[in-house]
Amino acid sequence: MGQRLSLYIHIPYCVKRCGYCDFNTYTPKELGQSGLGKSEISSQYIDSAILEIDRASSELADTVSIGTIFFGGGTPSLMEGRDINRILSHIRQQFIVEDDCEITMEANPDSVDEENLAAFVSAGVNRFSFGLQTIAPHLLKTLDRTHNEESILKALEIAVKLGVKNLSADLIYGTPGESMEDLIKTLEFALHLPINHISAYALIVEKGTKLASQISRGEISAPDDDLMADKYLVIDSTLEKNGFQWYELSNWAKAGAQSQHNQVYWTGGNWWGIGPGAHSFLGDRRWWNIKNPISYIAALSKNESVIAESEVLSDENKRDEKIMLKIRMRSGLARSDLRASDIAVIERYINSGDIDLENWEKGAVVLTLSGRLIADRIVRDLVV
Ligand SMILES: C[S@@+](CC[C@H](N)C(=O)[O-])C[C@H]1O[C@@H](n2cnc3c(N)ncnc32)[C@H](O)[C@@H]1O
Ligand code: SF4
Repeated sequence: MGQRLSLYIHIPYCVKRCGYCDFNTYTPKELGQSGLGKSEISSQYIDSAILEIDRASSELADTVSIGTIFFGGGTPSLMEGRDINRILSHIRQQFIVEDDCEITMEANPDSVDEENLAAFVSAGVNRFSFGLQTIAPHLLKTLDRTHNEESILKALEIAVKLGVKNLSADLIYGTPGESMEDLIKTLEFALHLPINHISAYALIVEKGTKLASQISRGEISAPDDDLMADKYLVIDSTLEKNGFQWYELSNWAKAGAQSQHNQVYWTGGNWWGIGPGAHSFLGDRRWWNIKNPISYIAALSKNESVIAESEVLSDENKRDEKIMLKIRMRSGLARSDLRASDIAVIERYINSGDIDLENWEKGAVVLTLSGRLIADRIVRDLVV
C-alpha cells in the first residue's frame, strides 16, 4: 500500500451532440437507436465497466488506495442512480477507498432532478460539475446546448438541498457572437450560484465538428484570438475579485475547493481510465482504450483486451510532460525540473514580464497574468 490511484469512469452517451464537441460520446442516432433506453444501455455498459474495474483491481488493489473518482462524459448524469451505485459499491469491494475520497460527477443541468441527484449522492457522489457554459440564449443555441438559466438554478438548488458542498460550473467563452456583455452577465450569474469552483474554457473549434463546418461554410464567424485574450483577462479579474483564485490556467476555486482529481492529472499522479476511449497513466506507462462502446463491451464480454495502444514514456517524454502540465498551475514548475539549456528561455520570459521573478528566486517557474496568455508559446520554447 502507500500509492494512490485515481479512477476516471467514462460514460459515453449524450442525448444530443453539441455542435462544438468531439469528445468520445454517442447519441442514440449515432448508435442506430431511436432513444437512449436507460436500462438496457446503462446496465450492459455498467457490466462492462465493472469487468474493467476488476482488471484494474487484480493488477493494483494490493498496492494502492483510491484517492479520487471522476465520472466524466459524455453525460454521466444520464445514468440511473442504481448503476452509479453498482460501480461505486464494486470499487469499494475491490479497493481500499480513502475516507475523504473526492467523487465527482459531470452533470448536464437538464438531465438532473431531485430523484436522480439524490440517488447519485446516496451512492457516494460528493462533488458535481455542471455544464453551464453561458446563460445567453443565442449562444446556448449556437452551442446546441439544451439547458437554460432556469434548469441551472434548479439543479444547483437541489444539490444544495441534498447537502453537497463541492459544486463546480464549466463555462465556455469566445463563442462566435458572444459580446463582452454576454460574458459579464454569465460571470455575474455564476457568481450568484452556490458553487466553489469554476472552469472556464476558451471555445476550441475541433476538426470534423458541426461548428467547424458552419465556420468553413461562412455561416458562423471563427472565434477571434485577440478577443479571447481580452475575455480571459475579464474572467480572471472578475473571479479573483470575488474570492475565486486561479490554480490552473482554466480553473479557479475558493479556498480549499480545488479539484483533487484534476490535480492528479496535472501533477503526474497515477490514474486508471475505465471505459471506451479512456486514457490511463501508471508509473511511466500510458495506454488508451478502444473508442467505440459497442466494441468495448464486446471485447470485455469475450475476455479480450480493451487497450487500443500503449506507450512507455522515456525520461525525456516525462520531463516534457511535466513542463507542459505544471507550468499551467499556480504552484508552477520546480527549477530542478529544468535543463541547464532551459534557463536562458526562462530568463527571457522573466525579462518580458511573463514569468514571475520573485517565484523564480524561490525556485519555481510561475506564469504572470501576461504569461498565462502565452503559455503555449512558452511551453513550445521549453519542450522543443
Ligand atoms: C465533454 S463535457 C462533459 C460534461 C457534460 N456533458 C457537459 O457538456 O457539461 C466537459 C466540458 O468540456 C467542454 N468542451 C467540450 N468540447 C469543447 C470545445 N470544443 N471547446 C471548449 N470546451 C469544450 C464542455 O462544454 C464541458 O464543459
Ligand atoms: S453534452 Fe457534453 S459531452 Fe455531450 S456533446 Fe455536449 S459537450 Fe459533448
